[in-house]
Amino acid sequence: MPIKHFLQFSDFTLDEFEYVIERTRLIKRKFKNYEPHHPLIDRTLVMVFEKNSTRTRLSFEAGMHQLGGAAIYLNTRDSQLGRGEPVEDAAQVMSRMCDIIMVRTFGQEIIERFAANSRVPVINGLTNEHHPCQVLADVFTYIEQRGSIAGRTVAWIGDANNMLYSWLQAAAVFGFRLNVSTPKGYDLDPQLVTVDASHYTLFEHPSDACQGAHLVTTDVWTSMGYEDENAARLKAFDGWIVDGAKMARAAADALFMHCLPAHRGEEVAADVIDGPQSVVWDEAENRLHVQKALLEYLV
Ligand code: CP
Repeated sequence: MPIKHFLQFSDFTLDEFEYVIERTRLIKRKFKNYEPHHPLIDRTLVMVFEKNSTRTRLSFEAGMHQLGGAAIYLNTRDSQLGRGEPVEDAAQVMSRMCDIIMVRTFGQEIIERFAANSRVPVINGLTNEHHPCQVLADVFTYIEQRGSIAGRTVAWIGDANNMLYSWLQAAAVFGFRLNVSTPKGYDLDPQLVTVDASHYTLFEHPSDACQGAHLVTTDVWTSMGYEDENAARLKAFDGWIVDGAKMARAAADALFMHCLPAHRGEEVAADVIDGPQSVVWDEAENRLHVQKALLEYLV
């Protein structure tokens, strides 16, 4: 039987997601009640980080510990991967010592090579093209707060990045619509769009994309730590801030999400991210719970 990986959102069927979501509800309830849940005793997760992280590292490491297993952190600065060891060799070795692998890397092609040479499941902890674990947490958060996401409208306000490509795949799996508004020059790459056009609508003006939306979501315009290199982006994104006026165009019970980290006053106004429609802390916490269900399912 082929090994099941989670390299992009579309790797799972709706039935699989529904199973993972039900397990997430149970696992979260146990966590809140301090009930032990240790299905992964003596199992090991290795986490390979080529890029920095707060939430992804913390949620996978804490999650594996809470499931009774262990998590090992490797980065490319102080492992042989950063010194030219082929990904194929590293994947072979890691998958003989560990039960599951999580990789955060710049290239989707790198994680696919990793998975092709692994004897155990590989999870995408973010690549340049996809961030499926974050969108799984976001979909779970919406369902938890508002019931089903099927038939709803999600507004994406920002550049075409890894989050948007995962949102597009999620729209096709869960049956919701995506309203997309990207600044000029930062629009969708047709080669990375894997769903048909019936699942999304493009809007020139971000306010129009928010009209009637049940969820408004965005992401940083400039990656944390790269602000000086990205002055041009700030200019191009002028007008794309999610502020009170845009949220007022959304449905009365609309939620606001942001995968974090955030720059208040750039992609989102402080009174939106810190306001009553924002569920960003639940969204961040749910990374822990959905990934515990994902680890349990894949191992
Ligand atoms: N949202 C997210 O992936 O956060 P980190 O970059 O801190 O892992």
